Amino acid sequence: MKNQQQLYLKPNVVAEPLINQWYAWSYLISPATAAMLIAHSQLKIMRSFVSTPQVHISALKNPAMLGGPFINYDASKVDEIKALMEKMLKEQAHMLELAEAIKILDNMLTNEAEGYSLEPIYQNVPEVLKGYVELVYDLNNHPSIRFIEGLLYKSPYYDQSTQSLALFLINADERDFVLSTPRLEDDNCLHLNVPFSSEVIDELFQMKNVPCLFSSIKEKLHIKDKDYELFASLFTEEAPQKYPEYIGDEVRIRYFGHACLLIESKDVTILCDPIISYQYDTEINRYTYADLPDSIDYILITHNHQDHFMFETLLQLRHKTKNVIVPKNNGGGLADPSLKLVLQNIGFKREKIIEIDEMETIEIAGGMIIGLPFFGEHGDLNIRTKIAYTISLQRKTIFIGADSNNLQPKVYEHIHSFLGNDVDVLFLGMECDGGPLTWLYNSFLTQPLPRRMDQSRRLNGSNYEKAIDLVNKLNPKEVYVYAMGQEPWLTFLTSIQYTENSRPIIESNKLVAQCHVQGIIAERLFGQKELFLK
Ligand SMILES: [Fe+2]
Ligand SMILES: [Fe+2]
Repeated sequence: MKNQQQLYLKPNVVAEPLINQWYAWSYLISPATAAMLIAHSQLKIMRSFVSTPQVHISALKNPAMLGGPFINYDASKVDEIKALMEKMLKEQAHMLELAEAIKILDNMLTNEAEGYSLEPIYQNVPEVLKGYVELVYDLNNHPSIRFIEGLLYKSPYYDQSTQSLALFLINADERDFVLSTPRLEDDNCLHLNVPFSSEVIDELFQMKNVPCLFSSIKEKLHIKDKDYELFASLFTEEAPQKYPEYIGDEVRIRYFGHACLLIESKDVTILCDPIISYQYDTEINRYTYADLPDSIDYILITHNHQDHFMFETLLQLRHKTKNVIVPKNNGGGLADPSLKLVLQNIGFKREKIIEIDEMETIEIAGGMIIGLPFFGEHGDLNIRTKIAYTISLQRKTIFIGADSNNLQPKVYEHIHSFLGNDVDVLFLGMECDGGPLTWLYNSFLTQPLPRRMDQSRRLNGSNYEKAIDLVNKLNPKEVYVYAMGQEPWLTFLTSIQYTENSRPIIESNKLVAQCHVQGIIAERLFGQKELFLK
C-alpha cells in the first residue's frame, strides 16, 4: 500500500497544462486573445475535423503540414471531438461573444474613426466590451483599441475552472504537435482539474526532489478511487541523484536544448527561456529537470513565442524560482499581452516578476543583466514583448540574442558602444525562414490579410548576412547558434524538421564557417553543451 509511503514524482511524468483540454500557452491565458483563439482557431479546427476527418488525416501524412491546423486523431475520435466542441460552444459562449465584440469594434473603428474625436464611438462599443477598452489614435489618426488587460483578468473572461493538468508517463521523445489537437481522455493520461495558480501544483513538482507522503498529495489533488492505480504509477520510492551545487570559480553555461541556457556562477543561477526534457533512456545526450539546481535566482524570458515562454516548464519550476524577468509590453495591444499579467494570473507571486525595458539594467550578485533591443521576428506587428539580454558575470559578457533579426545593423553599433566592451559569448537563433505572420497571429486579425502580404511578413530570425554583421559589431570570442527548434523532445511545440538543405541550416553553417575563418570559436548547438568562461 503506497498511502503511508514517502514517494517521489517520477522524472518522466509529463505535465501538460490545458485550458478547455487544449494545450495552454500565453495567448490562451490573456482573456482577449483567448477569446479570439477559441472563436477563430480551436472551434474552426474542431468543426472541420468533425465534418471531414479524412482531410486532417491525409494532411498529417505530409511532414510539412505538421504545424498546420489539423487534428492528429483518427476518425474514431470524431464523436469525442464533437462532444468537446459542443461543450465549448455552450460553456465558452461568453468568450465567443467577446471575440465577436472585438471584431465588431475593430471594424467600427476602421470605418468610422476618421481623425475626429473618438468620444461618440464609446456609446456604440458592444455591451460586453464596455469598460474594458479605451479607444485611441496614433499621431496620424490610425485608430486602435487599447484593452484594459488587468481588468479583463478580473472579469468572467478569465475563468480558472477551465484549467487542468494532464499527467502521463513518457519513455521516448516523440510527442505529437500540441497546438492544433485538443487532448482527449485516454487510459494512460490522468486529467486533474486544478487551476494553474494552485499551490498544490508546487507541492506536486517539488516531489521530483523531495519525497512526500503519498496519501497527502493524493488527498490534496482529490484523486478519485477509479484513478488510484494510474495516479500511483506516477510515483516512485527511488530517490533522484542529488544535483551537485555549482561552486566553481568560472562562469558555467549549460545548453539544455533550443533557447534554454543555464548560466551559473558561485553567486547566482540564471535560466534562460526554460524548455526542458524529461528524463528517460535515450541516445541523444541532454540535460533534464534533474540537472537543475534546487533554487533558480532568475528565469529570463526573451519573448512571447510558445517555444520561449513555455508554461509546461514554467509551472514545474515555479516552486524553485526566486525571480522571473520578462520584457515589458506595449500596454493593451491585442497581439501583445503582458507577460507580467500572464505570470501573475498563473500563480507566480507578483513580487517575483520583474519587467525589463530596453537599456535597463538589473544588478545581480557578481554582475548585471541588461535588456537590449530585439528586432523583428514578429511579422512587423507592434509587439514590444521581446527583449535580448546581456548577462555580465565576473567580468564576462554573455549576449542572449534569442530570435533577433538584425534588420537594422546600426543598432548593434549603438549597443556595442553602450556596453563599452566586446561580448565574450554570443548566442543567436537563425530560424531565417520563419512562418508567415498568420501562422501565429491569424486568430487576432479582424480583416483578412492578403496572401502576398502575409508571406512577406515572416516570423523569421537572422540569416547569414545579418548574423555575421551582428557578430562583427559585438566582436565575441565565441558564437553559438541556438534556438533552432531541432531537438526531438521539443518538436511537439515547434513542428520544425530541418534537412541539410533547409535554409536555416545552410545559413548557420555559413556563419559557423566564417567565424572559424575569423578565429572565433563557433558551433550550432544541438542537444547538450557545456562551456566555462575563463
Ligand atoms: Fe520567436
Ligand atoms: Fe524561437
